[in-house]
Amino acid sequence: MQALTALVEQALAEVGGCTDLGALDATRVRWLGKKGALTEQLKSLGGLAAAERPAAGARINEAKARLQAAIEARREQLGREEIERALAAGRIDVTLPGRGEMRGGLHPVTKARLRIEALFRAAGFEVATGPEIEDDFHNFEALNFPPNHPARAMHDTFYFPGGKLLRTHTSPVQIRAMLERGAPIAIIAPGRVYRCDSDMTHSPMFHQVEGLKVDEGVSFANLKAILHGFLQAFFERDLAMRLRPSFFPFTEPSAEVDMSCVFCDGRGCRTCKYTGWLEIAGCGMVHPNVLTASGIDAERFSGYAFGAGIDRLAMLRYGVSDLRLFFESDLRFLEQFRTL
Ligand code: DAH
Repeated sequence: MQALTALVEQALAEVGGCTDLGALDATRVRWLGKKGALTEQLKSLGGLAAAERPAAGARINEAKARLQAAIEARREQLGREEIERALAAGRIDVTLPGRGEMRGGLHPVTKARLRIEALFRAAGFEVATGPEIEDDFHNFEALNFPPNHPARAMHDTFYFPGGKLLRTHTSPVQIRAMLERGAPIAIIAPGRVYRCDSDMTHSPMFHQVEGLKVDEGVSFANLKAILHGFLQAFFERDLAMRLRPSFFPFTEPSAEVDMSCVFCDGRGCRTCKYTGWLEIAGCGMVHPNVLTASGIDAERFSGYAFGAGIDRLAMLRYGVSDLRLFFESDLRFLEQFRTL
């Protein structure tokens, strides 16, 4: 009996010394398993006299029960400690400031486009769009570029097999809009255009905005007024504007639009090549052939049209010297426009 008491004391001490559930289970097997020390005691009962067996058996079972209870208690305690540890390790401090949060912003070309749209909407123009993959009819023919006309060569067109092409300007949206809506009409059409051209001042993809107004009695004076008003509003300052005679197949007469240089106020600087003027758009009175091709009565209606580079307007407004910066996705550059 003394031996049994000693065994139980030893087992209880071992249980108390277990610091994790794995060790506790190993201890349990060692004492209470099929070949455990206490189980062996029960097996040895057979060697006792029949009269002693019941009492001895009862004591051994009592010892087993004590040990089992101790193991259960320890298991519960270790389990609780484990949960506490996991909770402590996984604790998050909800009052800490967020990590690595970057505020986004609009691309300067998008900012410029949105400004242009807002200003023209305020002047009664609707915003129209057209496909970037165009056909010869809308990009050239209906715009009064006859087949083999030399003006086509100015456009460095990207062609697809089968005759489709990437639009070289936003002017085809004029045709689509007139065919769809008829006259009177007043739209602007901003969007991407493509030309096989790439250097400091040319990108194979760039942005234009087209303008078109057709109604009875629309005049060249109306065109000049809307362009001058737009430029002053876009750059938020008093600017001089001048028109130089030019040629486009789809307008007659045609003109190139210059505004006084925003960097030197017309005194002459590197940006304006010391001329005091910046070329900013092409424009003219819609050619009667274009109205006719678009299903509009050229005897009754007249219209003006213009086309400007959005990227260039954005460069001038935000003081960007290299067009390529707009298309390199460099965050150090783009970040500067977040709040503008
Ligand atoms: N489509 C011309 C170009 O890409 C720009 C242009 C000039 C558009 C005169 C017009 C216009 O609507 O009247 O160079």
